[in-house]
Amino acid sequence: MNANAKQKILALLKNTNGYISGEEISSHLGITRAAVWKHIRALREEGYAVDSVPNKGYRLESIPDLVTPEEILDGLQTKQMGRSVYFTDSTDSTNEEAKRHALMGVPDGSLFITEEQTMGKGRLGRVWTSPKGGGLWFSILCRSHLSPLQISNMTLITGLAVCRAIRSETGCEVMIKWPNDIVIGSRKVCGILTEMAAEVGKIEYVIPGIGINVNIPSFPKELALKATSLQIETGKPLRRAKLLQAVLVELENALAAFENAPEQFPDEYRRLCVSLHKRVRFFRNGEPRDGQAVDISPEGELIVQEDNGEIASIYSGEVLVQGIYGDSF
Ligand code: BTN
Repeated sequence: MNANAKQKILALLKNTNGYISGEEISSHLGITRAAVWKHIRALREEGYAVDSVPNKGYRLESIPDLVTPEEILDGLQTKQMGRSVYFTDSTDSTNEEAKRHALMGVPDGSLFITEEQTMGKGRLGRVWTSPKGGGLWFSILCRSHLSPLQISNMTLITGLAVCRAIRSETGCEVMIKWPNDIVIGSRKVCGILTEMAAEVGKIEYVIPGIGINVNIPSFPKELALKATSLQIETGKPLRRAKLLQAVLVELENALAAFENAPEQFPDEYRRLCVSLHKRVRFFRNGEPRDGQAVDISPEGELIVQEDNGEIASIYSGEVLVQGIYGDSF
């Protein structure tokens, strides 16, 4: 079957108010009425609710919550980010997909997205649970112009972009737990894992991998205190493709702003960072050290005034925040 014709029919249905006749579709696309019918049936199998009425034709009644290239590209407002979409029903990890494709020379801003990850990766070697249909599990290949020293900022910039997008699309007051978590209240709704390949002094590529818990109605007891989803917070399921489009736009803008003025670490990040001005615990040589998070440096480090009076600049690793994820120390 000609997938292109199916996409064109979908576009026609989306752009028509009311019904469009089979006749009109077939003459518009230069295909038979029988072919039109087959494509409509395929669209229905994918979950598009298409009503058909004799002598009137077809009408699109509802769009399923898909993250297929068609749904992502439809109305996407970016120049480069997410313009090439690599979608799979299931994969080990979208970060791994991106790395495999990086070797094949796919373009800057390519998006790797899946319905389900069988070996989703979190930071510090943890597992990232990625059930089918419930989340946005995706990675972006950035053939970046940032220097290796600035690259840790990629996680922070990505966090800022996700935070802006979730706020504008849902109204949820998400915050950033430095460096890579997005939280609502004291629970995590999104995690970011940035991986890269570099030679001396030159970045080959950077891959921010983003996992957002979107339409997950509940979590098992052992996770429920630490994890949440946008569905739980807003009380209704969300169209994932729309949220993803917002993230892509915000990421493109935030990266461009940072590349133009890398020395100006955004003040907005400081306002959205839940770790700042809180009691925090970090680890040196496995030993816990406690203090107050007082600032983010222009290089993106968390600055902590330790209880012993020393000032620590934390570049990466685990930093617990009093009250977040139920942590107390
Ligand atoms: C963390 O909070 O520890 C980071 C979680 C990152 C999860 C995302 S889901 C898409 C991408 N692919 C992965 O295997 N991990 C990231």
